Amino acid sequence: MEKIVNLAKRRGFAFQSSEIYGGLASCWDYGPIGVELKRNVKEAWWRDMVMRRADIVGIDCSILMHPRVWEASGHVAGFTDPLVDCKLCKERFRADKLMDAQCPRKPSKHPGECEGELTEARQFNLMFKTFMGPVEDTASVVFLRPETAQGIFVNFLNVLHTSRQKIPFGIAQIGKSFRNEITPGNFLFRTREFEQMEMEFFVRPGEDERWYDYWREERLNWYTRYGIRRENLRLREHAPDELAHYAKACVDVEYHFPFGWSELEGIANRTDFDLRRHAEYSGKDLSYYDEETKERFYPYVIEPAAGADRATLAFLVDAYDEDVADGEPRVVLRFHPRIAPVKVAVFPLLRKHGQPERALELVAILRQHFTVQYDQAGSIGRRYRRQDEIGTPFGVTVDHQTLQDDTVTLRDRDTMQQERIPIERLVDELKRRIEV
Ligand code: GAP
Repeated sequence: MEKIVNLAKRRGFAFQSSEIYGGLASCWDYGPIGVELKRNVKEAWWRDMVMRRADIVGIDCSILMHPRVWEASGHVAGFTDPLVDCKLCKERFRADKLMDAQCPRKPSKHPGECEGELTEARQFNLMFKTFMGPVEDTASVVFLRPETAQGIFVNFLNVLHTSRQKIPFGIAQIGKSFRNEITPGNFLFRTREFEQMEMEFFVRPGEDERWYDYWREERLNWYTRYGIRRENLRLREHAPDELAHYAKACVDVEYHFPFGWSELEGIANRTDFDLRRHAEYSGKDLSYYDEETKERFYPYVIEPAAGADRATLAFLVDAYDEDVADGEPRVVLRFHPRIAPVKVAVFPLLRKHGQPERALELVAILRQHFTVQYDQAGSIGRRYRRQDEIGTPFGVTVDHQTLQDDTVTLRDRDTMQQERIPIERLVDELKRRIEV
């Protein structure tokens, strides 16, 4: 994990937020390479969950919502973690995760096993509060949303009436969520500000278990489709005492991170809990009328809820590899071409004889289609290494022959094989290899 965090910082994947002021705990900024990586993760999700499906539409809701939303959803009363303080070192820990934490004074021990005495556990609400308008009183309190899902539920009728969808259908959203986590950590894994990729799939009661099984498989396969190794993924069904207050069943897609198996995404059967609660609290009828069967009912909801930052971290961890190239050790990120932040790098073999000029002409063409880097500094071997380290799948080299016959060499990051191809075929060939 340390190697990955160092690489991420050195090559512009992610930086600590407000670093020049000493950093803000658990907040990260994505750099020029990281922002492309995360965008590709989100785009892959949107493409498969919305664009390619006739039965799912998208939405983009505001982060601030009416405070009653969070009463109805159960978050005001129940979105809490048990918190304990150590009377000796004054650190705070989650009472239910003491075995995952280290005593800051004696790292070989867990909190409570050292000399420090822990306070009684008290419930701590994870929602961030702020005030709407100029007056800071209880009437103006609003919350930063702790999940994107509620924006979807409160818009159920709006979407139903404007999109001509019929059950079963889904509404998907990607957006920021905020949780005042007691113990954030592990780089991008658990932060207080993060992005979710959530989809609420509305189904007829009685058909919910079939759809739950469908989405479990679909979501597990999504990660392998973009290159995550199957042996690093598993499904873990929640025990009844682990289930959230709204869930009838829940399964986590877990990834084998360097710090252990941990949740990437949860797939929950939320029943009709949310629509019924919002109907009760808002006084609006949120039921669904089936034109064919002439029945009115509250749909059940199957929810695959993923984290964009956790997925980005998993793609980064899974891609990391060290091998030997041309007799030298190299670090290589073996990203799937769709996920790779930079798709193609262009190099003039020499910095003379018109090669840089021809290479830059090529860059201008390729930039219309792909994220491209141009590099003319240092030996060609070193330039390949720099691209391997950020996972660029293809390298194009302009050499003396290019100026004679308009061909270039195309190098594959993984096989390191090079083949000569005409420039006029380059864009199509790259598209063919990327859009797999
Ligand atoms: N709407 C259901 C829901 O929010 P969740 O399991 O609490 O369920 C869904 O969150 C996903 O959001 C998680 O699987 C994880 O990927 C991501 N997530 C949750 N809390 C996070 C945090 N503090 N930091 C980063 N990602 C987080």
